[in-house]
Amino acid sequence: MDAFPLRPREVFEELSKTVVGQDEAIRELSVAIVKHLVGHPAPNMLLIGNSGSGKTTLMRAVEQFLASRSELSHSANVIRINANVLAEEHQGYGRAVLGRLFANARTQLGANAPMPDLLRSVEHGIVFIDEVDKIRAQVSGEPNVRGIVAQEALLTLMENENVEYTADGWTFVFNSSHVLFVAGLAKEFLLRHSGPLV
Ligand SMILES: Nc1ncnc2c1ncn2[C@@H]1O[C@H](COP(=O)(O)OP(=O)(O)O)[C@@H](O)[C@H]1O
Ligand SMILES: [Mg+2]
Repeated sequence: MDAFPLRPREVFEELSKTVVGQDEAIRELSVAIVKHLVGHPAPNMLLIGNSGSGKTTLMRAVEQFLASRSELSHSANVIRINANVLAEEHQGYGRAVLGRLFANARTQLGANAPMPDLLRSVEHGIVFIDEVDKIRAQVSGEPNVRGIVAQEALLTLMENENVEYTADGWTFVFNSSHVLFVAGLAKEFLLRHSGPLV
């Protein structure tokens, strides 16, 4: 870890310039990001806070920070999507997430990058999923198909199942065990729904 050009403290200080307060969340996230970039397993995270408390701001700040550091901009494959997008998965679960990670890898590594390098980048991505409270299995007591589809897509990706997807005319089998997932959840949702989330 000594040779790695980034310490959690430094990430914390950078993020704190944009995000006011929320020190605990910023600290935990900073540690997870550095661990992940070093190649150690980092736990997936759920950011829980009131609407307007800075969850989206924090995710954006991480994205911008990693993009601003030239030594990381080509190794850190970061995407941020709204959970709603997961409901648009008509052609196989995970397509929205994997498609974006793949496109990022192409941009970062170049048009002629070897396929194994692209896949490695995709499988070591950082995936922010904002507003997971939007993907509810039920709305007003009725089944909510979009929510159910989105939940299944997310769980399939996160539960380390092998997910098949197609990019550039190739079909790949993707395994998410090295991806860092960070989800954002509005606290009001927890207060309104004291039962299980799904
Ligand atoms: N902790 C914070 N630090 C800096 N700005 C914040 C913070 N919390 C909220 N804001 C500001 O308030 C607005 C809403 O914050 P946002 O990050 O979208 O909240 P959330 O995603 O938790 O609902 C943003 O424009 C942001 O600039
Ligand atoms: Mg938000």
